[in-house]
Amino acid sequence: MSQGLVEIRGVTKKFPGVMALQDVSFTINKGEIHALIGENGAGKSTMIKILSGLYKPEPGGEVIFSGEPFREYTAMESLRRGIVVIYQDFSLFSNLSVLENIALGPYVKDRKCFVDWNAMEKIAQETLDKLQFQVDLNASVGSLSVAKQQIIAIARALANKARLLVLDEPTSALSKGEVMKLFAIMRSLKQDGISLLFISHKLDELFAVSDRFTVFRDGRCMGTFDKEDLDDERLITLMVGRKIEYKIFNKNKKDERIMEVKNFSKAGQFKDISFTLNRGEILGITGLVGAGRTEVAEAIFGLNPPDSGALLLNGKTVTIQHPGAAVEKGIAYVSENRLQEGLVLRKSIKDNLVLTVLKGISNKLGLIDTKKQADLTVQWMEKLTIKPPLPDLCTSKLSGGNQQRVVLAKWLATNPQILIVDEPTNGIDVGAKAEIHQILRDLTEAGMTIIVISSELPEILAIADRVIIMRRGRISAEKFCQGLNQEDILSKAI
Ligand SMILES: Nc1ncnc2c1ncn2[C@@H]1O[C@H](COP(=O)(O)OP(=O)(O)OP(=O)(O)O)[C@@H](O)[C@H]1O
Ligand SMILES: [Mg+2]
Repeated sequence: MSQGLVEIRGVTKKFPGVMALQDVSFTINKGEIHALIGENGAGKSTMIKILSGLYKPEPGGEVIFSGEPFREYTAMESLRRGIVVIYQDFSLFSNLSVLENIALGPYVKDRKCFVDWNAMEKIAQETLDKLQFQVDLNASVGSLSVAKQQIIAIARALANKARLLVLDEPTSALSKGEVMKLFAIMRSLKQDGISLLFISHKLDELFAVSDRFTVFRDGRCMGTFDKEDLDDERLITLMVGRKIEYKIFNKNKKDERIMEVKNFSKAGQFKDISFTLNRGEILGITGLVGAGRTEVAEAIFGLNPPDSGALLLNGKTVTIQHPGAAVEKGIAYVSENRLQEGLVLRKSIKDNLVLTVLKGISNKLGLIDTKKQADLTVQWMEKLTIKPPLPDLCTSKLSGGNQQRVVLAKWLATNPQILIVDEPTNGIDVGAKAEIHQILRDLTEAGMTIIVISSELPEILAIADRVIIMRRGRISAEKFCQGLNQEDILSKAI
């Protein structure tokens, strides 16, 4: 007897010059948590977009839902079957209330002309109760934290009677505790017979919650495997086709002070933050999400000036009240939300890459030296293995992870004195992580000084020379990383 809910059969999807999916077949069972994994650009999001009716597979391939083939590939068809996708940005209506977000969908489907608020409230409350989540139904969704918005998105999916819930990298903006809550919800949905398709680049999270794994490589399906038959190494080999060494770099003690943060405080965000940064080192800043790490970085960069405290650069006190002043002083900042803030989606890779370095490659009249632009682009596309390697391709056509790489490259190319990167490998696959670590180390060898904010302790231990651990807006410890292990850091973070 087959337990299949969704059967994907021979699905191919071509874009001009790219085979995003090639003859992909696999089955998602009823009531399972099914992981979909693969390198950046392997075709995961394209697969989801076919399931949600945004793209149509090439003739010959089909999606069969509960034994019945899709008649057409449209959003309506897919919703009618009970497929709900939660994208990274959740697509909620942030100016509407919790109530409206959850219950408006089923209401509209019933084609009622009058809004029966009592009925809507009943639907919304029942759904939230099922998720054991308490929230003011009248709160506007935009005012809630990312984790709460995500629960509202799931509630909306339930109110729409989802049978397959797809989560595309849902955990990147969540704290550890929130991830655990999300997993508990995922497990309880599974108990109710709902199927979940879960996409993530975080292997520990995938193993914690998934029953089976489907692996994509370069648009092809490498097979579906039970969790019991997999471990990290096997999974990575299936994904990448080779073994990946997670290199631990030698730590350096540097002592030429380049920057000093003295008693930075800001009400409600952080208090008494003091540390030094030495030329040519990588300083890690870690701690739980919400510990104030990003706020401190934004304070240094002039996005979020502190209430009190001083900043010294090369021994001199400086005031940085806006990002322009920071850039002028040789500081660059790659934010965690780099996709929203850092990329002009309607422009090409080439144009995005040189946006920040236009001065260096244009002549006195402001004309861009196209030869220099081309050289620079090729150089950085190679370094970060951006795929497909087409400088003129519009960045909206890149996979999520490749867009991340373009933004990283764009800032690295400015060759700043001090580079601050927030979660540099968020959304980037395991294979490319090691490459990005190597690039950051190489940059320090060439004289750059780097602050890396990261929640991933293995990442901090691999690349940082020193680490600062933050807890509830304060620094709880500072350590030299040579010989340090994860437990040493964790005990100071919690
Ligand atoms: N609209 C499009 N036009 C052209 N090419 C596209 C389009 N959408 C995706 N692609 C290409 O299809 C391939 C698969 O992309 P997809 O977004 O499915 O990857 P992914 O597995 O989700 O990767 P990531 O982990 O980086 O999010 C990539 O080579 C991408 O550049
Ligand atoms: Mg994707």
